[in-house]
Amino acid sequence: MTVQVPKSINNEFNQDNYCNLINGDCIDILKKINDKSVHLVLTDPPYNLGQFMHKRNTNLKKMRENQFAYAGWDNLPYDEWFKDMDIFFSESSRILVKGGSLLVFMSIIKVESIIALAEKNGFYYKTTGIWHKTNPMPRNMNLHFVNSTEAWIYFTKGTNTGTFNNEGKLVHDFFETSLTTQGEKKHGKHPTQKPIKLMDRLVGLLSNEGDIIVDPFMGSGTTGVSCKKLNRKFIGVEQNKEYVKIARQRIEEVS
Ligand SMILES: C[S@@+](CC[C@H](N)C(=O)[O-])C[C@H]1O[C@@H](n2cnc3c(N)ncnc32)[C@H](O)[C@@H]1O
Repeated sequence: MTVQVPKSINNEFNQDNYCNLINGDCIDILKKINDKSVHLVLTDPPYNLGQFMHKRNTNLKKMRENQFAYAGWDNLPYDEWFKDMDIFFSESSRILVKGGSLLVFMSIIKVESIIALAEKNGFYYKTTGIWHKTNPMPRNMNLHFVNSTEAWIYFTKGTNTGTFNNEGKLVHDFFETSLTTQGEKKHGKHPTQKPIKLMDRLVGLLSNEGDIIVDPFMGSGTTGVSCKKLNRKFIGVEQNKEYVKIARQRIEEVS
């Protein structure tokens, strides 16, 4: 079975029939993926914090600008970002099979509006959970709480249960890992690269071997690394060519 992406899409980064990396804007590319052809959308989109932080006179402002806005991909005005997220959910809803799942990382302050958008596009809301970083940067630790968490939101499409490979064990809505190690960044740095361990856990729980998984905001390709490790097929979309190159090297390295 081949990954369901039309040949017309620029496939410079295509690796084989099991992994298809696309350099482009996912708002356009998602429209080219076949209806009901994907089992899981697992992604970590921009959180729309660039402009929000820019307006605040805090010590974190400079850090946020470096990390997000200056990276050039998280500085959209809220309305434009929201419109793109609306298209992201409507296209994800179209490409997912009945019983497919979608898990999206998000900043905690956006959770309620993202759930409303997903429900508007036909998703069934399941869970909001937390990823906790055990060794966050201790910035301004004597002034306030050190930020060490990000949220993720889990939905199913067309049913109220999806694949959930818990193997009879209780799974908390709380995942804990260290920050992404330098070893995982040896092919190049991405400012918000997720740890492979975290994505392995999500891919393993929410999909089965042979399933097709899409990450429309792929970044440095961590979802793709987990897919290859766990024998899932992967379509990754990323607008920044340098990040696609990093993703390709990281995924190729998985034996
Ligand atoms: C939070 S990062 C993802 C990081 C990723 N989880 C990893 O482990 O490397 C979001 C990524 O989405 C990309 N991006 C933002 N808007 C996009 C769009 N419309 N189409 C494709 N990629 C986009 C950014 O360039 C950025 O690399």
